[in-house]
Amino acid sequence: MLVPNLTWLVIEDAYKTNDLVEDVLKKSGLKYEYMIAPMPAQYKNKTKGPKPRGVSNRNKGLSWIRENAKTGVFYFADDDNTYDLELFNEIRYTKKVSLFPVGLITKAGVSSPIVKNGVFSGFYDGWIGGRKFAVDMAGFAVSVEFLKRRPKATMPFKPGFEEDGFLKSLAPFEPKEAELLATNCTKILVWHTQTKKNEPSLPLDLTKYNNSNLLMLKKILV
Ligand SMILES: *[C@@H]1O[C@H](CO)[C@@H](O)[C@H](O)[C@H]1NC(C)=O
Repeated sequence: MLVPNLTWLVIEDAYKTNDLVEDVLKKSGLKYEYMIAPMPAQYKNKTKGPKPRGVSNRNKGLSWIRENAKTGVFYFADDDNTYDLELFNEIRYTKKVSLFPVGLITKAGVSSPIVKNGVFSGFYDGWIGGRKFAVDMAGFAVSVEFLKRRPKATMPFKPGFEEDGFLKSLAPFEPKEAELLATNCTKILVWHTQTKKNEPSLPLDLTKYNNSNLLMLKKILV
């Protein structure tokens, strides 16, 4: 409600919408679309391993954007994120894909592009996992026009690789082309939160991360 010119797509992994949620959305006065996108049964009925949660919802949002939006920037918000209002001013000018740090309740304490002298130089994340784009779901925003020039871009039903798979599906697009926000990734404007105890963040490898934004980020982590 504090962000100007926002359309909120609320998409639930459910078979029907919920009147109580709809009431809240109406009351907010926001421009919104309330939709459902249940996880396909083949994944929902899996008995072993992690499920690809939130993928059906996000792909539904991407389809809505392709059909209904011409310009603007989209961002995958979530109910376990906390935002600094400044984030929305920053992502608003994204031309292709913008990247920025996300505060996390993990040993690393943050997931962020590594930035040296204003230039992208890799990803810092507690789990790189062979990903080309080792980012959190809350750590990037995409231009609508850029998406629409890539009709096949979609999020894969692949637990742990949803962000990487989606950003790779935006090819041709390389990490070094990303717009680095939050003052060269030295500020945390979004947190992926959980209510639980967390160890102090890991000490930083000062040889490896010398002259990088991580020195600044480390100062604001506990
Ligand atoms: C990012 O760093 C580069 C190189 O030091 C600098 O020229 C640029 O002004 C910085 N950008 C911001 C937004 O601070």
